[in-house]
Amino acid sequence: MAKIAVLGCGFGTALAVMADGCGHQVTLWSLFPQELEEIRQDGEQKKLLPGVPVTERIALTSDISCLADCDLCIMAVPSFAVRQTAQRAAPYLREGAIVLNVAKGLEDKTYKRFSQVLEEELSQQKIVVMSGPSHAEEVGRGAPTTITVASRERAAAEEVQDLLMNPTLRLYVNDDVIGVELGGALKNVIALAAGIADGLQLGDNAKAALMTRGITEIARLGVAMGAKTETFAGLSGIGDLIVTCTSMHSRNRRAGILIGQGKSAEEAVRSVGTVEGYPCAKTAYELGQKLRVEMPIVEQSYAVLYEGKSPAQALRDLMTRPKRHESEVIWLLGR
Ligand SMILES: NC(=O)c1ccc[n+]([C@@H]2O[C@H](COP(=O)([O-])OP(=O)(O)OC[C@H]3O[C@@H](n4cnc5c(N)ncnc54)[C@H](O)[C@@H]3O)[C@@H](O)[C@H]2O)c1
Repeated sequence: MAKIAVLGCGFGTALAVMADGCGHQVTLWSLFPQELEEIRQDGEQKKLLPGVPVTERIALTSDISCLADCDLCIMAVPSFAVRQTAQRAAPYLREGAIVLNVAKGLEDKTYKRFSQVLEEELSQQKIVVMSGPSHAEEVGRGAPTTITVASRERAAAEEVQDLLMNPTLRLYVNDDVIGVELGGALKNVIALAAGIADGLQLGDNAKAALMTRGITEIARLGVAMGAKTETFAGLSGIGDLIVTCTSMHSRNRRAGILIGQGKSAEEAVRSVGTVEGYPCAKTAYELGQKLRVEMPIVEQSYAVLYEGKSPAQALRDLMTRPKRHESEVIWLLGR
């Protein structure tokens, strides 16, 4: 039995319930005492995980010193709060504890991956990242789920695998931290585009095209940043992209649908809540420009989300781009 602290009560609640089911001693932390009070009173996280009991075995606290003796700290806060939460946690984590980040995205302005952010803020801890097709609603009710864990220290990723793997949650270890993190961050942008396509009622062919060409451009940027191509064919790449582009659990897709139906990006994001593809579309667009990587879907998504371009015009521009070979190699050699 390990001592596990989970920071953040959205997806974090599902992970806490799952870790409790594995027999660990679990503490769930929130910055917001009111959120904990509601979970305590209702016996569940009503907003995100209705119907998933949060047992009294799971300690609820807003005191960050709960981290003092934990073996594993799971960071399950939204992207924008990762650095500040790490700074809050730093004085309490013991040397050598594992910190597992599940937030998906890139840091605004610095373009850093969250493992880089955590390595800066938590230099005495072992950093592991988790990514893959894993909607909280399904993890919480114990539906079969597979996820990838990656770390620069393979033993730390294997330790997470040992601690959290169970008959409903299968964890795979991967050494390509860059690829795993970029797949998780960038798929949200493609999910917004897929939602827009759904809102425009473009059909299944368009959705399949966005997913297939979307993973191609994610991989293109990923490889330019040091990732391995094959990682994007795995759970944290195409796996997560498929689930995010097709599921109504996906807030990115739901926001995209509203945009496709005529709402502005700001209105859509306001009504859905956490839509991490929205800030990430800007970051991914800027990274593509900086590294000179061609990313047509990201570029058009950026124009719709930030420059007021109509989704119909973005679609026309995507479909009428210059001719290409499907294989990058043939295209690049032919230029
Ligand atoms: N929801 C999912 O199914 C899912 C699955 C896999 C990964 N993730 C990733 O996990 C992260 C969290 O996702 P979520 O859906 O739980 O998000 P969320 O917006 O529902 O927020 C989760 C929790 O974070 C905490 N929080 C909010 N603002 C905070 C702040 N400023 N400082 C500290 N804590 C704060 C709160 O406890 C809140 O309940 C995201 O990066 C997301 O991409 C989510």
